[in-house]
Amino acid sequence: MSKLNIAIVISTTRATRFGHKPAQWIHDIAAQRDDIALEIVDLRDFPMPFFDEVASNAWAPSQNAIAQRWQKKVAEFDGYIFVTAEYNHSMPAVLKNALDYAYPEWNKKPAAFVGYGSVGAARAMEQLRLIAVELQMAPTRTGVHIQGADFMAVWKGGKEITELSYLRQNATDMLDQLVWWANALKAARERPAIPAAA
Ligand SMILES: Cc1cc2nc3c(=O)[nH]c(=O)nc-3n(C[C@H](O)[C@H](O)[C@H](O)COP(=O)(O)O)c2cc1C
Repeated sequence: MSKLNIAIVISTTRATRFGHKPAQWIHDIAAQRDDIALEIVDLRDFPMPFFDEVASNAWAPSQNAIAQRWQKKVAEFDGYIFVTAEYNHSMPAVLKNALDYAYPEWNKKPAAFVGYGSVGAARAMEQLRLIAVELQMAPTRTGVHIQGADFMAVWKGGKEITELSYLRQNATDMLDQLVWWANALKAARERPAIPAAA
């Protein structure tokens, strides 16, 4: 069976961001599996304006060249791990904007989440799960939350995320669920469509 293509999306872009560190951490764990091929996708490389098209690309092709490049990139994958911060109890606006800039490319694929912040971005992740459903994605039950004093220790205290060994089981469970859904949905996407009954 060919490997599943999985994106690890870094969802913050500011100059002093922390987001690339948990992205690298989950990448290094996921890279130990032999059933997935991974790519870290950095939203810094897709600096789209705030949504400025006549419609979602579910309805009308996007005109913006970076948006077109983003949609092509999103289409390459069988599933996604969004590494997200929490900004004012929600997801970073740059991530919501990037989600809005694609539609069919997300459809019928799974989404998993690694969050960091005072509550491990739990509030942002719950909102992301709702959005994922509207994008016709299957969000995994398990997410990874780097939270509280442990987040502060890795954010400002010089501790490594690898030292938070209890996160490892969550990461494994989340990846197992992501791969299960990615395999199931890939098979379903590739199955010939059943003609609608007359
Ligand atoms: C605009 C803004 C709002 C924030 N709101 C929250 C919040 O609601 N909950 C939280 O846990 N952390 C919050 N934080 C702190 C972030 O957890 C922390 O800055 C984190 O490093 C942000 O991710 P980033 O460095 O990848 O941008 C906020 C940070 C910013 C810049």
